[in-house]
Amino acid sequence: MTTPKDGTQTTLRSLLDGTATYAAGFLDGLPERKVATTATAEELRKELGGPLPEGPHHPEMVVAELARAADPGIMGTPSGRFFGFVIGGSLPAALAADWLTSAWDQNAGLYAAAPAASVVEEVCGAWLIELFGLPEHVSYGLVTGCQMANFTALAAARHSVLEAAGWDVEADGLVGAPQIRIILGEERHVTIDRALRFLGFGIANLRTVPADGQGRMRADALEDALTESSGPTIVCAQAGNVNTGAVDPLRAICAAAREAGAWVHVDGAFGMWAATSPALRYLTEGMEQADSWATDAHKWLNVPYDCGLVFCARPAAHQAAMGTHASYLVHSEDRERDEMDWNPDFSRRARGFPVYAALRSLGRSGVTDLVDRCCAHARRFAEALAQEPGVEVLNEVVLNQVLVRFLDPGGDHDARTRAVVKAVQEDGTCWLGGTFWKGKAAMRISVSNWSTTAEDVDRSVAAILRAAN
Ligand SMILES: Cc1ncc(COP(=O)(O)O)c(C=O)c1O
Repeated sequence: MTTPKDGTQTTLRSLLDGTATYAAGFLDGLPERKVATTATAEELRKELGGPLPEGPHHPEMVVAELARAADPGIMGTPSGRFFGFVIGGSLPAALAADWLTSAWDQNAGLYAAAPAASVVEEVCGAWLIELFGLPEHVSYGLVTGCQMANFTALAAARHSVLEAAGWDVEADGLVGAPQIRIILGEERHVTIDRALRFLGFGIANLRTVPADGQGRMRADALEDALTESSGPTIVCAQAGNVNTGAVDPLRAICAAAREAGAWVHVDGAFGMWAATSPALRYLTEGMEQADSWATDAHKWLNVPYDCGLVFCARPAAHQAAMGTHASYLVHSEDRERDEMDWNPDFSRRARGFPVYAALRSLGRSGVTDLVDRCCAHARRFAEALAQEPGVEVLNEVVLNQVLVRFLDPGGDHDARTRAVVKAVQEDGTCWLGGTFWKGKAAMRISVSNWSTTAEDVDRSVAAILRAAN
């Protein structure tokens, strides 16, 4: 900052205080603010763009201008009435810890550069393993999101199944390597295919297994697929279909895969959190028998973006796939955790701090309560909407996802459903998106935010029915 030396502290303090005021003002305004944005891309470009500044601007002015100009393009995702995609809010302690993370500006790749970040990740790893009921010895990494958690886990899987076939993929690559069979459910998330592409597999030769009406991989069909041939095999299962919330039959999948010597990866971006609730745990039964797991903290744990979580039952494979060394780095020689051994980043944000704050502020019972509450709100949505004539709920609401279809007297149900979604978005009371499920257009409601109340649900149901009528 450009002020004299003795004024620097005051100026920095006033900048941060002022920024806190903007942030708190935004959050305080969420209950009454339109959830949708109010500016077009062109309007935002006009306000935020222009030529590269020739010289410096005062930081307080930069932040004030940014807060003003970006505001109409800021989606109300932390609102209790945001039900789009699968987007969690930010718990107060996690948000505050995220601010500290930026102030501390640690490079959390090596213990030597950021000891507290390393120890905090270690603590989070142990707490999360316990919460999910995974085997104690599993390794873990905090990555940017479930996309990279899937990538990291599948890199470990690739290493392990090829090592068992006598091939060192890190040294020799994939050219000439034994063929790996990859078997996955037809309703998997697209990030699985993308992770496989990144890992050099290509997606033309994947063996897809049919799913049932809720999107769950059929275990009997998996068993058939496993008998078709042998050799290195990876099975990708899912906990939480992005549309229906349905969870694959994990116990049966793990048993069949184990019998065939295959690696089982579970993509549980949000569905894995069912394991933290005694009432919902039946959904993820058997999950602990898999070889790797991917999930998100920025979804159902409600930490600010970004944070995904990867776990691996074979730490040596995990580390072999991710670890790296260089002469100028200071690697831990004893037990301390160098995070770059467990995730694909090198330099990285210390994203363990907000995860730690979220877990400490909620405790075990708070996590369970958050998950149970969101699911109860999803059921409240489904019950209220299903009783209206001409409204259909398409899925079994087992978790936090609801799919709704609006029937058109003229028969064009897809067009009517899309029109209702658009009208709800424009109304701004709440925000949700559309999807296609089994060839039918649907409204997609995902309840993933700690701050959603029953009143938010009722206000949103009323807004949806207004839009539909
Ligand atoms: C099942 C599933 N897997 C993976 C992802 C990708 O997660 P992320 O956006 O955190 O990378 C999602 C996102 O919704 C998901 O639902």
